[in-house]
Amino acid sequence: MGRFDGRRIVVTGAGSGFGEATARRFAEEGARVLVADLDDERARRVAGGIESAGGVAEPFTVNVAEEDQVAAMIQRSVNLWDGVDVLVNNAGYSHRQKLLWKLTVEEFDAVFAVNVRGVFLGCKHVIPVMMAAGGGVIVNIASIGAVAPRPGVTPYNGTKGAVLTMTKGLALETARHNIRVNAVNPVAAATGFMKTATGQDELSAELEANLIASIPRGRLATPADVAAAVTFLASDDADFITGTALNVDGGRSV
Ligand SMILES: NC(=O)c1ccc[n+]([C@@H]2O[C@H](COP(=O)([O-])OP(=O)(O)OC[C@H]3O[C@@H](n4cnc5c(N)ncnc54)[C@H](O)[C@@H]3O)[C@@H](O)[C@H]2O)c1
Repeated sequence: MGRFDGRRIVVTGAGSGFGEATARRFAEEGARVLVADLDDERARRVAGGIESAGGVAEPFTVNVAEEDQVAAMIQRSVNLWDGVDVLVNNAGYSHRQKLLWKLTVEEFDAVFAVNVRGVFLGCKHVIPVMMAAGGGVIVNIASIGAVAPRPGVTPYNGTKGAVLTMTKGLALETARHNIRVNAVNPVAAATGFMKTATGQDELSAELEANLIASIPRGRLATPADVAAAVTFLASDDADFITGTALNVDGGRSV
């Protein structure tokens, strides 16, 4: 018996990094997973991998910043599997590392559109479906940068602060509908995200060493670390946990 046998899970940004590991972990534990990503080739690759391993998955192409596309993503799970038990709002990205006063309005707006509007839209469209079914779980991927920011990605960290505040407020708005809303705050990991944020194709040894030096556990986060935290929060073991954020940061924020 898997923890998520038959459950219907939608994971955004599931074509890579944390989202991919999370989608695979849910599927390994018995769930049916909608692998949603902006990049349809990635979504198909991850969903195909899950199916080859004997799991149940369906790819879906979505830009989480666009309301009609997010509505269609939730509807796809309803059409396929008659509902959504868990939504993981994981899709996100960072503007290139720069001091705040060097960023353009376009760069600022773009990161808020994906990281904040995207979470808003996911929640907005899944909550009526969950309410009608008698409950559900939402897990939002924020960042340790929301609680302990470092220089260079300030508006990005601001988007994650907004995600944490929305997580708490929404947890209160939905608690009596048997819907739980939590967040996960990962520390740095060597995913595709790092390429966008740093502009480096591979994390340089120097940057990696600097990041590791700030993490008491002495390593970066891995996609598996994040998948473990997300699936815990989505599981029945976390039934009394709502409105909180789990720091997956090797002690970086202490
Ligand atoms: N990697 C890190 O160091 C780190 C640390 C803390 C938080 N995070 C957060 O973790 C989440 C996942 O990032 P990751 O590290 O796995 O990065 P990643 O780049 O490996 O994966 C992100 C995925 O999201 C998809 N995506 C991007 N914009 C999208 C959009 N508008 N609509 C739908 N899909 C979109 C991308 O195509 C990609 O497949 C993000 O929210 C990120 O902000 C990352």
